[in-house]
Amino acid sequence: MTIIPVSGAGFQTYDVVVGRGLLGQAGQRVAPLARGRTVIVSDETVAAIHGEALRASLEGAGVRSEMVTVPAGEASKSFAQLERVLDRLLEIGLDRRDVVVAMGGGVVGDLAGLAAALYMRGVDFVQVPTTLLAQVDSSVGGKTAIDTPRGKNLVGAFHQPRLVLADIDVLATLPEKQLRSGWAEVLKHGLICDAAFFDWLAGEGAAGAMGDPTALERAVVRSVEIKAAVVGEDEKEAGRRALLNLGHTFGHAIEAELGFEEAALAHGEAVALGCCMAFRYSARLGLCPTADAERAEAVIKAAGLPTRLDQAGAFAADRLLALMAGDKKAEGGALTLILAHGIGQAFVAKNVDADRVRAFLIEEGAAG
Ligand code: NAD
Ligand code: GLY
Repeated sequence: MTIIPVSGAGFQTYDVVVGRGLLGQAGQRVAPLARGRTVIVSDETVAAIHGEALRASLEGAGVRSEMVTVPAGEASKSFAQLERVLDRLLEIGLDRRDVVVAMGGGVVGDLAGLAAALYMRGVDFVQVPTTLLAQVDSSVGGKTAIDTPRGKNLVGAFHQPRLVLADIDVLATLPEKQLRSGWAEVLKHGLICDAAFFDWLAGEGAAGAMGDPTALERAVVRSVEIKAAVVGEDEKEAGRRALLNLGHTFGHAIEAELGFEEAALAHGEAVALGCCMAFRYSARLGLCPTADAERAEAVIKAAGLPTRLDQAGAFAADRLLALMAGDKKAEGGALTLILAHGIGQAFVAKNVDADRVRAFLIEEGAAG
């Protein structure tokens, strides 16, 4: 088991605990924060598989719990589900000393975190991430949000959790597509700032993508260390935190065009493809060695993740460009992209020329 503290100037330090069998320890770890009562927010799939274990652990430590579930899937990051969750918290009579426990993937963490930020002007919440993506990324750093028909994550708040419990054992029930999707975010961390970690992920660590718990634990620990360091420096994304968006501007545009549907690309798959595109674009501009872009692509491909636009569908360059410019990382209409000087050397590129990106998208197979 490893405990990684997340500290920053603007928030109370909290621990991310990574290890095996943590669901069974949730009660003893949450009890000091909960003063007697919690509401678990989960999705129907996760609640059916792991809900009872969490409830039993909480009750064993003398912590009462209520369960609120939402349908599984991105569509639950909506005003309608946010209102439903908040209404249930009011109905239950949660007070400001009680704790919301978000048990699930990034969808539940983002939705329950936002509900906790808004309820009575903010109550404490604990993240129990059950997807690899949530363990390595969304449960750490305090970004919470819902989607609107105008785009993803456009309504939200920074609200840091008080504790994160990342139990590697819960990943055993995760569908393979979701495991791969989370692996993309792990690879992303190596690509951003840790070439040695990327080497390990490409070699010995690759077993994690197949579900090996020892490799997964090491991959989660290193990813959380990287994310904790970035968030500690720049909680509100004034600068360095934007690096964590490597692959996201291309990826979000592709996801948006596909409609964020269950049958379409999982979030991490879109990020994997976006990372490949960011590296290829960096190489095309002469900013990054072509060999690094090719290696990034080969390792992502070996993990069973998409690397080429045509694997995701057919796209029009203008449409993707418009979606990229509408991404909330765009500043004053100018395109901001995360590019790279090489593996482990990502940087924020502002005022990127839209025409060059359009030409690149056509080279990548989008219709002109
Ligand atoms: P998700 O929450 O939809 O979970 C994926 C699927 O796996 C769901 O059907 C869920 O029911 C199921 N599932 C979850 N845990 C399981 C388990 N242990 N066993 C079996 N099934 C399980 O998706 P996700 O990929 O975890 O998260 C994606 C979301 O995260 C997106 O909305 C994205 O915007 C958000 N996100 C947020 C941040 C952030 O910093 N807040 C960062 C990255 C991504
Ligand atoms: N996933 C990007 C961030 O947390 O900033």
